[in-house]
Amino acid sequence: MERKRFPDGEMYVRVLSDVAGREAFVLGNTNRDDAYLELLLTLDACRENGASRVIAVVPYFGYARQHMVYKRGEAVSSKVMTLTIGEFADRIITVEIHDEMTLKYSKRPFMNVSVYESMSAYYSRKGVDLVVSPDDGGLHRAEMLAKGLECDFFAINKKRIDSRTVSMEVPNVDVKGKRVLLVDDIISTGGTIAKAASLLRDMGASSVYVTAVHGVFANNSVSKIQEVVDEVAVTNTIEGIFSKIDIAPELASAMEVYMDGRIPEKL
Ligand code: R5P
Repeated sequence: MERKRFPDGEMYVRVLSDVAGREAFVLGNTNRDDAYLELLLTLDACRENGASRVIAVVPYFGYARQHMVYKRGEAVSSKVMTLTIGEFADRIITVEIHDEMTLKYSKRPFMNVSVYESMSAYYSRKGVDLVVSPDDGGLHRAEMLAKGLECDFFAINKKRIDSRTVSMEVPNVDVKGKRVLLVDDIISTGGTIAKAASLLRDMGASSVYVTAVHGVFANNSVSKIQEVVDEVAVTNTIEGIFSKIDIAPELASAMEVYMDGRIPEKL
């Protein structure tokens, strides 16, 4: 790809390979607004240059946490993202989207890839006694990881008070002397994970490891988390210093499913 900015700041992309008559898988992210725009322009560049099929591969699907109207007057951001990407792509692939409700907004086949295998393979080397989700919504993820690691799991009872404040209550589980793995889908401000990790430490956990699928790490989240945990490791859906878990194998298998125009009956 050739990528540059015009003098007025507008973005320019150009596909340098010959995509005519070929199936194009466009790997792009949406963790920043400019990355989202670049993805849309690249999808269009492939289409305009004759690609036979265009597949958007979006490892981190941003805006997915606003998948419904919570307060009167809001937009449904995840629907907007889905429909615009689908306008330029024939299929969409993403990794562990925040809520599968977003898939229903799509007019195109839309696959959500799970990456439990890579995550549990990474932690099987460490030794984990308990997997904990910081909220009920992530209980299934904790369960799947615990299954791979052959240990127990539970979820903390989290209530969101506002966009910056949450309250947490840990169920009556003995974590004393245990090596605990906290798992979430996204680390954004780090507030959720830091609070959950402190609670588990106060209850006597011997080690607290933190993992998440998507490491957004907004603002000063890194120092906030590092103060209370032994290790942070996220996947490489967003590249960063904590992207220690490679999910390329799962993504490659998902791409194979759509290759040559195939659409499996059941996704
Ligand atoms: C919430 O429902 C999500 O699963 C994450 O727990 C949340 O988005 C993490 O955000 P933060 O790092 O800002 O607490």
